[in-house]
Amino acid sequence: MSAFASFRGRAAVVTGGASGLGRGIAEQLLAEGMRVAIADIEAGALQRTAAEIGAVAIATDVSDLASVRALAAEARRRFGTVHLLCNNAGVGPIGRIADLTVEDWRWMIGVNLWGVIHGVQAFLPMLRANDDGAHIVNTASVGGFVTMPGLGAYAVTKFGVVAFTETLAQELAVEGSKVGVTALCPGPVRTNIKTSSRNRPPGLGPGALRDVDLEKTEFGASARWIEPREVGRIVVAAIRRGDLYAFTHPEHSALSSSVCRRSSRRVGYLRRIEPLVYDALTPTPPRGAPHAIARWTVRSGDRRRPGHRQGRRAASRRRGRAGNARRAHLARAQRDGRADPSRRR
Ligand SMILES: NC(=O)c1ccc[n+]([C@@H]2O[C@H](COP(=O)([O-])OP(=O)(O)OC[C@H]3O[C@@H](n4cnc5c(N)ncnc54)[C@H](O)[C@@H]3O)[C@@H](O)[C@H]2O)c1
Repeated sequence: MSAFASFRGRAAVVTGGASGLGRGIAEQLLAEGMRVAIADIEAGALQRTAAEIGAVAIATDVSDLASVRALAAEARRRFGTVHLLCNNAGVGPIGRIADLTVEDWRWMIGVNLWGVIHGVQAFLPMLRANDDGAHIVNTASVGGFVTMPGLGAYAVTKFGVVAFTETLAQELAVEGSKVGVTALCPGPVRTNIKTSSRNRPPGLGPGALRDVDLEKTEFGASARWIEPREVGRIVVAAIRRGDLYAFTHPEHSALSSSVCRRSSRRVGYLRRIEPLVYDALTPTPPRGAPHAIARWTVRSGDRRRPGHRQGRRAASRRRGRAGNARRAHLARAQRDGRADPSRRR
């Protein structure tokens, strides 16, 4: 169970809250009894959505640190403090790496990755100061685990958000923080991401990134599309449980087990190869590391410190579960005649 057990009466900030997933998350948080500020760059949509759902509107450009700091200050002025930050604003046009301009990269990385970094920079001190716990949800994507032609710039940012979120969760867990962290990893959701270029700053010039309505492609026709409000419910459940990953499509959750295994190997590697670095970064390494840390990466809200034996048993149980999930995933892929995604990577 996460330290963040209760939503009622507490305050949340959702970036990119004027549309799509952000709106769906904000609506669900309001239904849970939270006070919610939505922050967005699209002024008209921001005001309209805030009025429709009963949220506070705060104009923000997440790619600009000063703007995100002003958002944090305004949220503190309105609510006193903030218990939940959803770094969700994002854009998703596609383009081949060979064709992209430097401005294309600056825009995509500025919103999708710097937006998340700026959010944590500006809000973490306020979240940490809450004795009754707090939580950060960073919107990544299934595109944070797999690559495909045309989605290079997007994948770079979303892989970055996954890495950032995993690492933040580990560091907060090691310091015994009451701030939990979740990487939201949506599959196909019906939103306005297909017209992301509406928010491209005009000063950047035309570039090579193009909007695509994936729902109208062959992939889109076979995918299972869900509504933003469903994502809101998934996010609330993940925060309650203190999950590090929130997948909107259970069929993608095998990705997280492979990630957990990778993460646990990485920590083990670091422990063996670079003990000095590891010890410097984790001043009070818990007994049983690396298994304990690997376990914390699965449930960021779990602050129990298992002894060596418990840690080993937990790791062995987790390996078993990950193996089962992987085998089930492979069996489904073979049955449906789909290729094993891991072979493409
Ligand atoms: N829709 C999907 O299928 C899907 C799948 C995986 C991940 N995602 C992620 O979900 C998040 C939300 O996207 P969405 O699908 O709801 O799209 P959307 O276009 O409906 O919503 C994105 C919101 O972000 C805002 N925004 C854009 N640039 C901004 C900036 N610089 N500062 C502040 N706000 C800004 C937009 O105005 C918009 O309101 C993104 O991070 C996206 O990558 C979406």
